[in-house]
Amino acid sequence: MAVPDGLIERMTLREKIGQLTMASVDLVISGPVADTDVERGVREGRIGSLFNLFGRPAVRAAQRVAVEETRLGVPLFFGFDVIHGFRTIFPIPLAEACAFDPALWEATARIAAVEAAAEGVDLTFAPMIDVSRDPRWGRIAEGPGEDPLVGVRLAAAKVRGYRGGGPTAAVAVTAKHFVAYGASVAGRDYAPVDISERTLAEVYLPPFHAAIVAGAEAVMPAFTDVEGTPMTAHHGLLTEVLRGRWGFRGVIISDYKAIAELMLHGVAADLAEAAALALNAGVDIDMMGFAYERGLPAAVERGLVGVADIDAAVARVLDLKDRLGLFEDPYLRSGPADAVPPAMATRHRAVARAAAGRSLVVLRNAGGLLPYAVPAERLAVIGPLADAPAAMLGPWSGAGRVEEAVGVLGGLRAAWPASAIEVVRGVPVEGGDAQDIAAAVAAARRSDRVILCLGEAAWMSGEAASRARIDLPGRQAELAAAVLAIGAPVTVLLFSGRPIAMPDVFDRAVAVVACWLPGTEAGHAVADLLTGRIGPSARLAVTWPRHVGQVPIHYAARAGGRPEDPADRYTSKYLDLPNTPQFAFGHGLAYGPIRLDAPWATVRGDAVDVVADVANEGDRLETVTVFLFVRDLVARVARPILELRDFKQIALPAGAHVTVTFRLARTAFGYLGDDLAPTVEPGEFLVHVGLSADPADLRTTRLRID
Ligand code: GLC
Repeated sequence: MAVPDGLIERMTLREKIGQLTMASVDLVISGPVADTDVERGVREGRIGSLFNLFGRPAVRAAQRVAVEETRLGVPLFFGFDVIHGFRTIFPIPLAEACAFDPALWEATARIAAVEAAAEGVDLTFAPMIDVSRDPRWGRIAEGPGEDPLVGVRLAAAKVRGYRGGGPTAAVAVTAKHFVAYGASVAGRDYAPVDISERTLAEVYLPPFHAAIVAGAEAVMPAFTDVEGTPMTAHHGLLTEVLRGRWGFRGVIISDYKAIAELMLHGVAADLAEAAALALNAGVDIDMMGFAYERGLPAAVERGLVGVADIDAAVARVLDLKDRLGLFEDPYLRSGPADAVPPAMATRHRAVARAAAGRSLVVLRNAGGLLPYAVPAERLAVIGPLADAPAAMLGPWSGAGRVEEAVGVLGGLRAAWPASAIEVVRGVPVEGGDAQDIAAAVAAARRSDRVILCLGEAAWMSGEAASRARIDLPGRQAELAAAVLAIGAPVTVLLFSGRPIAMPDVFDRAVAVVACWLPGTEAGHAVADLLTGRIGPSARLAVTWPRHVGQVPIHYAARAGGRPEDPADRYTSKYLDLPNTPQFAFGHGLAYGPIRLDAPWATVRGDAVDVVADVANEGDRLETVTVFLFVRDLVARVARPILELRDFKQIALPAGAHVTVTFRLARTAFGYLGDDLAPTVEPGEFLVHVGLSADPADLRTTRLRID
């Protein structure tokens, strides 16, 4: 069934604007709450879609009002932030990015879609594919990390995953937040963005293009401006690039109240101007701001907007509803059928446990402390994250349930049932209370093994959660210093939505694992890693700063004319810190020694083959990611010292010695020329393979491209 013929023509202007208005039902709060009577708005045809509502009965009841109690019976569609899981919560996206595994990224999105569609959700406001190089920005937790290639592959995999199931096991996707939201000034959420067209084109746009090519049905502009033009009113990027150059035929949904906020940006004097700017820029749906409802009629009267443009936006929204199957069956995802069967939910948790295990990055492991070969008789589990299931779910935890989440304590108890486990919080996640540090130290002294669980609460990353300092919150650094001072070999488990600057901990802890916020199965996954049931396969998808003063910091920097030379004062460096990060992009230890040999590169027509040998010199299976970087040594435009052009993950049994082969297109040696069109200049290149972007991990060969 298609959109009924003549439907738009039969609509009044108010009904047309109703189709362009989305309201929150506030079952979940995802922005400033407004006092709207949603049901009356639906019944009067003033609201055409809802979000933050799930559960078949509630969705069915709302749909019934739209279909049976309005003049034209146009069905609603239902959106929700299914960001890293619906009921089964997976690791936060930044953590999953560390798995460097598109098949995993797709698999978790697929499960999330199955669970969401089973509860009445038609569309998710995901994937969030904003590259970010600033850990002050809380939303770095929601995205793919610092690298555009990782962003491209994660975007495509997530779109495939969310959309790939059958009609009742898939949801439409919204690529967000278009674009360069991750570059907001000083890492403050919602803050302005000033970046070059080149950086926009080379770093921030590619993941969105990949999402569109993969079939994303919707795009959400960012709250922020780019060089003074708010994305919600950015005709150049929304209409000329997204719709014009890329051929995007889907729906553009504003972010929460973002159209009305064009007045606060200072680009609209009233709601009529704000509504006109957004609609003329290409924004179809007004999320929660009621700017279209209150501003478009006046905008039409004042000649700021043509009814034909409103009709075009309505047509795109109706087309989305049709593609969702809602004209055929408005109750397609909210009918009386059962939700996800329990057996399937058990399988989903198994995938969540595996995904969490694939996201844990071993940052340090002096002397091979990990994995623990045998349980300890007396184990001290210390710190505010020792038993914190709520924190494990992270921000945007969808329909996840804290009571279903497994914290560190639960995981260790299950893994080491015979151990006597003593749990001491020591200090809260934040705040000035430090009275239990002595008790924590005493527990550590009494134990055979100490595991120190530090980090952030779930609300300390995600939206509206930027931090000017990126160190351990509260008095946790004091707790760590006191426990580490006893000299026992301590393993630190760090739970956070961002890299945390804690140089003293890195200096003194024997082992440190970046656990991020691993989701429902956190505790079991951590135990799997500590016991050696799984090996550490995750690598950092974001550079880890020593100090917030180094931010923004990332591997793909340009050299500049005076690159750092410690022996030469007049070079680019700090007086008080090295330029190098605490840990490089791609860093992450295996449990045993891995050897990567120098590559050799061969030009074969329009392609370049790069081959390198990698060996597992240890005694256990390892999963290793090999990164391929290039550097254009001389170009008309200075190029970054490293650019990631491919990565491959390989399973290496003990003693295995394999050859990794990459095939690069010639364009991988190019860049965007003056007109930002791809160009390849003949010349000399460095080709690196590496286990990370750390210069010490790179193996290099030179190559001439003619
Ligand atoms: C929020 C977020 C956006 C989310 C939307 C709906 O403000 O910026 O990512 O999808 O509102 O909850």
